[in-house]
Amino acid sequence: MGRLLKCAAVLAGIAIFASLAQAAAPPRPVDGARIANADSEPGQWLSIGRTYDEQRHSPLKQITTANVKNLGLAWYADLGSVRGVEASPLMVDGVLYVTQPWNITTAYDARTGKVLWKYDPKVPVKYARIACCDIDARGLAAWKGKIIQATLDGRLIALNARTGKVIWSVQTLDEGTPWAYTVTGSPRVFDGKVLIGNAGAEAAAPGYLTAYDAETGKKAWRFHVVPPNPNTTKLTKAEEMAAKTWKGEWWKIGGGGTPWDSIVYDPVAKLVYVGTGNGGPYNQVFRSPGGGDNLFLASVVALKVENGDYVWHYQETPGDQWDYTSTQPIMLADLQIGGRLRKVAMHAPKNGFFYVIDRLTGELISAEKYAPVTWAERIDLKTGRPVENPISRYGTTPISISPGRGGAHNWHPMAYNPAAGLVYFPVTFSADIYAYDPNFKQVPGGIIQTGSHQSNMPEVRAQLRAVMPKPQNYLVAWDPVKQKEAWRVNYQRNGSGGLLSTAGNLVFQGTADTTLAAYRADTGAKVWEMPVQQVPIAAPISYMLDGVQYIAVAAGYGGGRAEMAYNTVEPDVAEYGRLLVFKLGGKAVLPKVTIANPTLEPPPRLTGSVDDVLVGGELYAKTCSGCHGDEARGGLKDLRRMSAQTHKDFQNIVIGGARKERGMLSFADVLTPAQAENIHRFLIKRINDDWIELKNAK
Ligand code: HEC
Repeated sequence: MGRLLKCAAVLAGIAIFASLAQAAAPPRPVDGARIANADSEPGQWLSIGRTYDEQRHSPLKQITTANVKNLGLAWYADLGSVRGVEASPLMVDGVLYVTQPWNITTAYDARTGKVLWKYDPKVPVKYARIACCDIDARGLAAWKGKIIQATLDGRLIALNARTGKVIWSVQTLDEGTPWAYTVTGSPRVFDGKVLIGNAGAEAAAPGYLTAYDAETGKKAWRFHVVPPNPNTTKLTKAEEMAAKTWKGEWWKIGGGGTPWDSIVYDPVAKLVYVGTGNGGPYNQVFRSPGGGDNLFLASVVALKVENGDYVWHYQETPGDQWDYTSTQPIMLADLQIGGRLRKVAMHAPKNGFFYVIDRLTGELISAEKYAPVTWAERIDLKTGRPVENPISRYGTTPISISPGRGGAHNWHPMAYNPAAGLVYFPVTFSADIYAYDPNFKQVPGGIIQTGSHQSNMPEVRAQLRAVMPKPQNYLVAWDPVKQKEAWRVNYQRNGSGGLLSTAGNLVFQGTADTTLAAYRADTGAKVWEMPVQQVPIAAPISYMLDGVQYIAVAAGYGGGRAEMAYNTVEPDVAEYGRLLVFKLGGKAVLPKVTIANPTLEPPPRLTGSVDDVLVGGELYAKTCSGCHGDEARGGLKDLRRMSAQTHKDFQNIVIGGARKERGMLSFADVLTPAQAENIHRFLIKRINDDWIELKNAK
């Protein structure tokens, strides 16, 4: 090799080395300053709602209302998961982090989709039956070279962001308690502490929010939503105040209130805001006989980040009796209201009212109905309390109340567009039948326990449904200052997803019609829609790399909405969840959907007596309807659409646990094979009853 050439090669080598070194140079770690200044790095998505205020608004504007028609798939990755994918990804320094059912977390090269690492915390499958509403995971937190996740079985795990190796892991649920807890929410890191709540209020589990040191996993503080037993525990001042609002021996019954989703942070005020869960059992008679507000159920509570001390609370549903959680996403903003700049928290909880609260003092600024509501007439702004409809505190006569237990808005993230001044979220018209169940006995550790009849009265439900208004599902754009709807997009099907807003005057949402759609943020006009073979129920994110803006969404149909979906035929979805990434001019194409069970097969002949079918129906309502829908319509898997082979395998599946890896566990602990057969008979009857409808459905 000539001298000159050698020299050039060396020089080139240096250049290559230098560029590699630059690429590999550890970027500035994600810390509080970086998240607080997220707007100075609009290409990143560093925390679950992008910013501490969780407005889910991307300042990126390469994709506009004019060119969004050219948006196409850049790349996709099969997640290999069945069930609902509820987490938005994070995009930190070129790496996309996604978590999926069973808390499997994957790091992808955000440009190409190449898998960098995958971590499976091996959650025991029994949790598929303990979780009320699917084996969900709602997100991840990035902090100083770590990706932090929470698992369904209650662990908080810090992974090395580059390798996926475990740095520390702690169990966040107290051991030795009888309660059926799970953890489905996304951890957040505020002020160097990881915050995580829990779920299980359906099983009356008393909720708490705990903070851990982000470097070591050491516990820093805990806030109890339901005050502990005052006879055995020295209560804090806040717990004493709360205990006065309970009657009887609530600590034996549990109480509920699990804060399973929203936790946000104001880094200037140094306040954490947490949304708390519903009362458990639902019917207050059983958990606090004689009434009371039952603090801190169904509330937004503000706590000091350094020690978890109580600062203020606003209870949205005092003495909740309808499964009205206040865990829905809380969003912070600074708004001009009545000529003053107000620092507010905005909230659209299950109970159907949109609240604007002063986030420094807890004062209610305004509250209006965003959906049809019958449990209360209005919120009295003087007292801050709802003016309840007296019949809504139900007795033994079943009554229909709106919203129902699924809520008018559930966990689906809201987005805010500051230019349009609008908050976007999915609304579902919902109603449920409530009645006092005199035979109810609460068992600590039992799974779903309500104390109000609901779905175990199929005949009553069917009658009442006939007189209830037709369900409506829509995306709403809400003006939080005027407390008024600005526009809506109606959907035929229940179950559209969370929201992303971008500075391109766009709002992105996954739809129950198995598409991803974009609307003008100011008017709601649809400007783009693409079939994606999945219902992206999670909220999309946006990021930018090498000057290219991407939209990314982790898509997988499921979650509580799907379990409760009524009258919906399973959409034609791909069997597995997928991560989908879009850019202008993207040309990637999804493979054709292969549906496992494309043809509807006639059911086997009905055997057994009328009584067998009735008994089977009751057992179905108690044991199966939570996931397979009331009256076996819709749900996670519509059992009216079983194949001939599945009918044959019925006992193997229900008693033998043949599908346990897919979240359908054995019910041998609560059902005999003969009882399972009666459930089967009930299902065969249901298929015959609905045969015409099933055959005519798409
Ligand atoms: C905690 C949720 C849950 C509950 C409760 C539940 N299932 Fe399932 N079930 C599932 C899931 C998830 C699947 C889909 C599994 C798969 O993908 O194959 C399923 C599938 C099935 C299937 C197969 C259907 C088909 O067409 O492939 C049958 C049969 C079934 N369940 C019966 C029952 C019965 C009977 C009960 C009540 C005793 C029940 N399930 C309760 C979650 C549940």
